[in-house]
Amino acid sequence: MNDLHGKRIVLGLTGGIACYKAAELCRSLVKAGVQVQVVMTEAAAQFITPVTMQALSGQPVYTSQWDSREGNNMAHINLSREADAILIAPASADFMAKLIHGKADELLSLMCLARPLQTVPLILAPAMNREMWAHPATQRNVAQLNADGSLVLGVGQGDQACGETGDGRMLEADEIVEALEAFWTPKVMSGQHVLITAGPTYEAIDPVRGITNLSSGKMGFAIARAAQHAGAQVTLIAGPVSLPTPRNVKRLNVRSALEMHQAVQQTVSDASIFIAAAAVADWRPASSAEQKIKKDGSGETPSLNFVENPDILASVAQNARAQKGELFCVGFAAESHDLLAHATAKRVRKGVPLLVGNIGPSTFGQDDNALLLVDAQGAKELPRDTKTRLAHQLIQNIARRLSSV
Ligand code: CTP
Repeated sequence: MNDLHGKRIVLGLTGGIACYKAAELCRSLVKAGVQVQVVMTEAAAQFITPVTMQALSGQPVYTSQWDSREGNNMAHINLSREADAILIAPASADFMAKLIHGKADELLSLMCLARPLQTVPLILAPAMNREMWAHPATQRNVAQLNADGSLVLGVGQGDQACGETGDGRMLEADEIVEALEAFWTPKVMSGQHVLITAGPTYEAIDPVRGITNLSSGKMGFAIARAAQHAGAQVTLIAGPVSLPTPRNVKRLNVRSALEMHQAVQQTVSDASIFIAAAAVADWRPASSAEQKIKKDGSGETPSLNFVENPDILASVAQNARAQKGELFCVGFAAESHDLLAHATAKRVRKGVPLLVGNIGPSTFGQDDNALLLVDAQGAKELPRDTKTRLAHQLIQNIARRLSSV
């Protein structure tokens, strides 16, 4: 993973109401350990003050190419030489039009033109009215900026400040931060299609009751995000959890083990890697009542009969593509004790090359975890860390295995 800690980013603001979101973005970047140097156009300063951005970034803000604070009076050169990237957020339609022509009539565009092309990437988060965004001129400019080596992020969809609804909102601060993390993550999974199951399943007893477990889905979602950042195409089959979908990940929601099994069967033929992180219920009630089961006042309790759910991982591991080595299968083991012994036996029982053991009760719902990677050669510990970082380590580990076959 590439966390942003220690990165130096020049955050450029151009004129648009989305400048209010740049304040939150600046705060999030600083919180992530980024050194933020803000540069604002005159138009941006109509929407938000340099004082606000100075307070949030902890650095004096630059607004003019004639800023005499610079010893050599060359802010447009000095600012980008120290930077790991220039991020323009919001990037107005007008500013993008200027960039493609190499116009440089104020500090921010001058700095973009003067940046070392090979070492200082230019990333833009556009924000504008939906008609302006859809206009062929803007779309042409976006394509040209990408062709010139910049990275133009997408836009959000929804209500706009002008009262209209559509595409053109600036991405939210956390989405931009995630896009930056993805940008700097080595693309070790490029060309792979990763299918991941995550979260618990829910087995209905009647329309209002059911049996589930304490899996939060956080580990599986973190793996989906890490795989996407590493360049994979990712499909995430999620049990009932309320986590946000990682950017650029295709999510299919399911409830029961049978639904999860069906969704996996329908999608696995496109996958090159299958990671079963879901805590699938082993059994389901033999029948689910169509109406709520009522107490009849006699004090008698209803008896439940169970049937076993299909083992999704084991059945995928037995399929022809997995057997031929075209589909790399990774299982998880949620145990409460004797992790090494249970995980080792489970790997063989499931017929998978790699099984990831963890202690369920000490990680369900938490933001951190500790993993034990078990393969035919033995076991390797990934010590306790955030699920985000562990997910990146796991993805790198899988990529190494695939590149060495
Ligand atoms: N799994 C699955 N389908 C099931 C049960 C489990 O795909 N019906 C997968 C899980 O996603 C996980 C692995 O199998 O990758 C092991 O799940 P776990 O619940 O730890 O093990 P079980 O097979 O249920 O065995 P036990 O309950 O005996 O520990």
